[in-house]
Amino acid sequence: MGDARPFTLALFGGSGATGRAIIDQAVQGRIRIRGLVREGSSLGGYDGEVIRIKGSLSDAQAIAQTLEGADAVSIVIGPRPPYRDVFCATATGLILEAMRRHGITRVVCQTGAMIGDYPANQSSLLKRMAKLFQRQRPAISRDRVEQERLIRTSGLEWTLIKPPRLTNGPRSKRFKSGDDLKAGLLSSVSRADVAAFTLDEVLSPRHIREAVFMAG
Ligand SMILES: NC(=O)c1ccc[n+]([C@@H]2O[C@H](COP(=O)([O-])OP(=O)(O)OC[C@H]3O[C@@H](n4cnc5c(N)ncnc54)[C@H](OP(=O)(O)O)[C@@H]3O)[C@@H](O)[C@H]2O)c1
Repeated sequence: MGDARPFTLALFGGSGATGRAIIDQAVQGRIRIRGLVREGSSLGGYDGEVIRIKGSLSDAQAIAQTLEGADAVSIVIGPRPPYRDVFCATATGLILEAMRRHGITRVVCQTGAMIGDYPANQSSLLKRMAKLFQRQRPAISRDRVEQERLIRTSGLEWTLIKPPRLTNGPRSKRFKSGDDLKAGLLSSVSRADVAAFTLDEVLSPRHIREAVFMAG
């Protein structure tokens, strides 16, 4: 007899636009979601299909509760405009620590194509834009680089997803992805495609210990 227990994904950032796309597709694919959501935010109208844990990304107990019974973890957090909240590295550190305690090994974390120094993956114009971002938002920029460093050194089965500009377009299934893909200033990809890629990676990992760039 097969295992009837549904695959369970612990989701951090499920109230965001990509997070919602992940939830929509997970529910269609019979993947159970356990999502941490802060006061005043919502994970959409999936009563009964999505398990909500109310709490903050700085609350280790709420994070541990989110991970209970999870098979894998998706992190899609990021600052909202006006881009002043510096929280991604600390939150990610707490999530990774809790994963190790719970014996969960698979983590897929989304950052962005402009984060960090990736000479082979960033066109010269994108590099210039990334430098401008670093100058304009140094604390946010350092926080995201540190978030990636924590993922890379976690000892877990990690994948970093690094999309360029995100759109709310439909799922196209025609996007390109790879650790050798070069993203340009005009590159974009839909959140629906990023969500599909994320769920493929948690169900059937193909990019363990890789930073994967995407473009539509
Ligand atoms: N926008 C782009 O074009 C772009 C391009 C490349 C990469 N990215 C990255 O891709 C990821 C997803 O982007 P998105 O635009 O889909 O996300 P989004 O809609 O901006 O959602 C961000 C998520 O992070 C949470 N969050 C924001 N500030 C927080 C705080 N201070 N404390 C706790 N949680 C907080 C939000 O929770 P609440 O709902 O509670 O606020 C939400 O769940 C992010 O890492 C983003 O940086 C974005």
